[in-house]
Amino acid sequence: MSTKPYDLIVIGGGPAGYIAAERARQDGMKVLLIENKDLGGVCLNEGCIPSKAMLNAAKIYYQAAHGAPFGVIANDVSFDISKLNAHKTGVKDMLRKGISGIMKRAKVDVVNGLASLTADRRVAVKGDTYEGANIFIATGSSPAAPPIPGIELDGVLDSTGVLNLDRIPSSAVIIGGGVIGCEFACFFGSIGVPTTVIEMLPEICPVVDADIAKTLRMELSKKNITFHTGAAVKTIKESSVEFAVGDETMSVDRDIVLVATGRRSNVNGLGLEDARVEFDRGGIKIDDRCATNVPGVWAGGDVTGKVWLAHAASRMGEVVVNNIAGRDDRVRFDTIAGVIYTNPEVATVGLTEAAAKERGIPVKTGKMPMTANGRFLAEHSGERGLVKVVTHAGTGALLGVHMVGGACSEMIYGAAAMIETEVRVNEIKDLVFPHPTTSEIIRDTMFTLN
Ligand code: NAI
Repeated sequence: MSTKPYDLIVIGGGPAGYIAAERARQDGMKVLLIENKDLGGVCLNEGCIPSKAMLNAAKIYYQAAHGAPFGVIANDVSFDISKLNAHKTGVKDMLRKGISGIMKRAKVDVVNGLASLTADRRVAVKGDTYEGANIFIATGSSPAAPPIPGIELDGVLDSTGVLNLDRIPSSAVIIGGGVIGCEFACFFGSIGVPTTVIEMLPEICPVVDADIAKTLRMELSKKNITFHTGAAVKTIKESSVEFAVGDETMSVDRDIVLVATGRRSNVNGLGLEDARVEFDRGGIKIDDRCATNVPGVWAGGDVTGKVWLAHAASRMGEVVVNNIAGRDDRVRFDTIAGVIYTNPEVATVGLTEAAAKERGIPVKTGKMPMTANGRFLAEHSGERGLVKVVTHAGTGALLGVHMVGGACSEMIYGAAAMIETEVRVNEIKDLVFPHPTTSEIIRDTMFTLN
């Protein structure tokens, strides 16, 4: 057994962990990072990055195959998944090397292995025990597997398995119409695979504003995707999936099935009970400084179950380091933007109208169709989109911006900055947006408030 004192021990090398390690070194701390798999976490290895490579490929294919309204006639468009997979692997390798390089240059000690906390608040890994003034737990999440009969059958994949497909399926059934379900439905549907989404709730993407979710569903329905909402999955069979809508039992043929019904925090095997760190099924309990109930033990990212987004995880890592360094810092969860990388994209930040009303906040809302925007109309044919803004009826503060249409992910940071800095509607009306850009629609929507 060896005992090496660190200022900060980080458990988990994803976007929360490696950013915290780098920032802590910038503050002159002695840092140990422990990772059991590859650096980069779910985001780089099994999530954001590989799925975006797939979604962009599907978008290119779709645009090539549907370019006729713009005068682009491409005959015999085909999709070579092995080339896409090679591209995806290349991108992941490059980014992984980048993170390793950053850790080396920053002089972060990196140990490969499974870490767990001990009763005396140390960290054990591979027979060694390390001592840290601070411990940051950032072990991420894994796909949750609901108890659906037949889930163990061949061709039933989770959101990790679906990234490794080496053939294009003849049909896809997706259980869960949330973020992952919609992104992969868009991937399969766009490349011509008949795709069915089975969602238990009355509308897809339940955390998104209802008008935005409905518009997304209607747009995706044009891409070989059939949605069944308010539907309960009964059984996955060898070549079909059975589900019920109300009293009616229905069946849909399947080649592959993707189970995308949520994720669970990676809390098991961490010694949280021994170290008396509070957690429940949702994840490790933290406050908005990312502090757990045990002094000097911090947690951030998916393992907290607070918000399952890579950029939120990185921010949580930074907040932890700032607090350790004596700079009081807090995460404002309300101003973290979320994006669904479907085609069209969904981008949202701040309160939805429903959430604001639930909190008793008096609101004014404004809506505009994307087709009112010149740039959008010039670049899209037969597609729809929507912008919805939520403002405080009394103060005029911007509370939420919700968008579906085109590549709206690229403009949500502007709305997030406005909400974070508590900009008022009148101030946004005074800003001049470049023309022609789709972003102008955010300003234009401010004139529709009622
Ligand atoms: P999710 O919570 O977004 O969606 C799960 C959906 O499955 C919900 O709509 C739920 O009602 C439905 N569902 C649950 N059990 C069901 C059942 N038995 N039958 C039918 N429907 C059922 O979870 P998802 O899509 O798995 O994503 C996990 C997390 O990862 C999310 O919180 C998401 O925000 C995050 N993520 C974010 C991405 C992004 O930022 N673009 C990309 C991928 C994931």
